[in-house]
Amino acid sequence: MRILGIESSCDETAAAVVEDGVKILSSQVASQVEIHARYGGVVPEVASRQHILAILPVIDQALASAGAGFSDLDAIAVTIGPGLSGSLLVGLNVAKAVAFAQGLPVTGVNHLEGHIYANWLPYSSPDAEGEKAHHPAPQFPLVCLIVSGGHSNLVLMKGHGQYVLLGRTRDDAAGEAFDKAARILGLGYPGGPAIEQAARKGIASIKLPRATMKGTYDFSFSGVKTALLRLAEGGKLSSVADAAASFQEAVIDVLVNKTVAVAREQRVKQILLAGGVASNGLLRRGLVESSPIPVLIPDPVWCTDNAAMIAACGYFRLKSGKIDGLDLDVIPSLKLA
Ligand code: KG4
Ligand code: ZN
Repeated sequence: MRILGIESSCDETAAAVVEDGVKILSSQVASQVEIHARYGGVVPEVASRQHILAILPVIDQALASAGAGFSDLDAIAVTIGPGLSGSLLVGLNVAKAVAFAQGLPVTGVNHLEGHIYANWLPYSSPDAEGEKAHHPAPQFPLVCLIVSGGHSNLVLMKGHGQYVLLGRTRDDAAGEAFDKAARILGLGYPGGPAIEQAARKGIASIKLPRATMKGTYDFSFSGVKTALLRLAEGGKLSSVADAAASFQEAVIDVLVNKTVAVAREQRVKQILLAGGVASNGLLRRGLVESSPIPVLIPDPVWCTDNAAMIAACGYFRLKSGKIDGLDLDVIPSLKLA
């Protein structure tokens, strides 16, 4: 089954052609990062206008590099939420137009569910034998840590499409915390990659608070951000690199400890990592090193927003009969469980 995936929930316009949920024939991402960087964050109105400009060329490129036309497709999978309504509407309406014109089924995908399904995709770079490494398919039951710009969720998955929310952020999402810390340190937008890069030249020598939120698997990152802000305002940060390294360690420590604890408690077979923050090297290494349970992590290119993960998720939805009608609408605050 060949699925065209379409993603436009935030500031990336993306399209991909994926076969049977796991074989990536093409993946195109048009990023708006440079446009939003001058405002220090995503400007929703600007984002939707950029999606309108980019969506058709991006789909054309995805089809061309897959060597496919619309008539070679079997279905369309499109993100319907959570995200910015004006951005989501662009992807959804194009998806519905193509589905209607070609007589194809369409399935609406939860963006967070898409992030989880990045774990079913192969690595993008070939291994020593020239094969694109296919890490083993995830095994249920599993716990997935989803850490993106808008969400930090710990989710129990007992099967495809079955989610129990075990923990969530009480305030800032992990990616949002990275973005705000980068702004405090004058490192620009998006903050995650900037903090990680700056941290490489520093030592985590500054004591920052770790909110343990005892008795729950919820997260809170506003305290560590505020502590950093107070130090910066008080002129007490002599080294941006040390501050970045200390902040990164404080956030990643909490993410790793809570994820391992909840996975042990739930006696799951695997831990999965997902979302933009999952491309962070310290988090990837930290989780693998601290967990007695096997950890699966997508290739970094499938961690940040893309449409291959949406097509992968769409495949498993369609296989279980989840076809939507052309009355499908966006749900900006869509929940996972
Ligand atoms: O999943 P994503 O691409 O978009 C959303 O769905 O939000 O995640 C974007 C977030 C941003 O907050 C960005 O700063 C963060 O992921 N991020 C990182 C890294 N790369 C991206 N955070 C920490 N370390 C990274 N290397
Ligand atoms: Zn995302």
